[in-house]
Amino acid sequence: MSNARLVVLAIAALALFIMIGCEGDPGPAGTSGTATCVTCHNDDTQIVAIAAQWGNSTHANGGNYERNTPPCSGCHTSEGFVARMNTGDPGTPDNPSAIGCFTCHEPHTNYNFNLRISDPVVLAVGGATFDKGNANLCAQCHQNRTASPTVPDTGTVIITSSRWGPHHGPQANILSGNSAYVFAGETYTTAHAHYVSPSSEGCVTCHMSAPFGSQAGGHTWNMTYDYHGAEEDQIAGCETAGCHSTLTDFSYGGVQDSVLAMLTTLETLLLNAGIIDSTGLAVVPETLTVAQAGALYNFNMFEEDRSEGIHNPGYAYDVLNASITAMGGR
Ligand code: HEC
Ligand code: HEC
Ligand code: HEC
Ligand code: HEC
Ligand code: HEC
Repeated sequence: MSNARLVVLAIAALALFIMIGCEGDPGPAGTSGTATCVTCHNDDTQIVAIAAQWGNSTHANGGNYERNTPPCSGCHTSEGFVARMNTGDPGTPDNPSAIGCFTCHEPHTNYNFNLRISDPVVLAVGGATFDKGNANLCAQCHQNRTASPTVPDTGTVIITSSRWGPHHGPQANILSGNSAYVFAGETYTTAHAHYVSPSSEGCVTCHMSAPFGSQAGGHTWNMTYDYHGAEEDQIAGCETAGCHSTLTDFSYGGVQDSVLAMLTTLETLLLNAGIIDSTGLAVVPETLTVAQAGALYNFNMFEEDRSEGIHNPGYAYDVLNASITAMGGR
């Protein structure tokens, strides 16, 4: 139990004791305003520690919150996200701020750290429902966006944006095995323990595990940290009861190496076909067959996921293999 909750309990117990113990007239109802504030604004350092973790996160430091017009503002600014949750329209906040305490919590409305929202999320692409407890909050933003244009059923498609694809945050779709382009005649493995296991609370289990200082885990959401000049993996979440007990770093089962190799193969095929350039951006404008467009979409989706297969190993293997085949690679 958090210290803040302990303080609330202590105050409630004291109030009960006073009510039962004294025989005089009852005092005025309710606790004082200050008592409400000091459940959090006190000498307890939990908020100090969490604020330091947050200060070392990309949510705090990514710097992309100047994207304050719709639809960007609904995921890139605190104010736009709150407006989107309340009204469906993120609007253009006058004074945009980074994703912070008040994006995800409402401490001055509810006087606690409950999440602002944790309802299941209907994914914008594909329409499947993402439902994984507190991680539902993450899925509100970390999901595919609709590509413009979408890949048609047959024929060809003209692409005009060098960044055409599912956008930078496809993690909820990949974790739950949704929304990659499905080539004719292909089926993919979609379910993985990282999403379906009752021991996993999705994103939160891995990215918000017991913090390593303010470098990884907790409210840093970081999965790696620097230790004497070497990059270390934050495996505290992997060791959650019911999950892994023998894992020492992320290279478990060779997943990341395999997926990186497949991404490199696919990238080379797309490059050799003149579909992307050496920086990985689409060469535009260009006319693609549905198979080429599907392969490009899948490449961008798994490249920008950046877990190198960890979010959903079986799905990554199947989708990337099918994409390589579609590009004539096997
Ligand atoms: C549930 C916990 C909680 C309660 C209760 C709470 N606060 Fe806060 N308050 C916070 C957090 C978290 C911050 C942001 C801290 C940070 O960024 O370091 C904050 C920040 C503030 C700030 C700084 C300005 C700002 O908005 O960032 C003021 C002023 C403040 N609170 C006043 C109050 C007052 C007055 C009350 C009682 C009416 C109160 N708070 C009750 C959690 C709480
Ligand atoms: C309001 C939308 C929003 C919510 C909610 C949200 N994120 Fe993010 N997240 C972002 C954006 C936008 C960025 C990139 C910020 C930037 O670059 O300025 C980001 C960055 C990150 C990063 C860092 C990526 C990097 O490049 O270093 C991680 C990890 C992450 N989020 C995980 C999570 C998890 C886990 C949750 C749920 C607890 C979550 N996010 C909730 C929008 C959101
Ligand atoms: C559905 C939520 C959502 C919307 C809408 C959205 N983004 Fe993002 N965007 C994200 C997330 C999440 C990330 C961070 C992903 C990560 O770090 O893995 C991100 C990352 C980015 C980045 C950083 C890329 C990088 O490599 O560092 C840029 C730039 C960006 N978005 C621009 C935009 C623009 C411009 C718009 C509006 C046209 C927009 N975004 C709309 C969720 C969104
Ligand atoms: C991107 C969303 C996000 C942001 C930003 C965020 N939190 Fe949280 N916070 C969460 C989630 C999700 C949990 C629940 C974690 C879990 O289930 O283990 C949580 C839990 C907490 C808890 C409860 C911990 C406990 O042990 O009961 C506190 C306190 C808290 N956050 C404070 C803060 C403060 C202070 C800030 C700003 C410095 C902040 N949070 C910013 C998402 C966020
Ligand atoms: C099974 C554990 C696990 C789950 C569940 C999980 N992640 Fe990850 N995530 C990882 C690992 C491991 C990496 C790769 C770290 C590396 O190799 O650098 C990663 C990478 C990322 C990245 C790229 C930036 C970074 O920190 O390396 C983002 C953003 C991200 N995850 C967001 C999410 C979101 C959002 C969810 C939920 C939809 C989620 N993750 C679910 C383990 C997990």
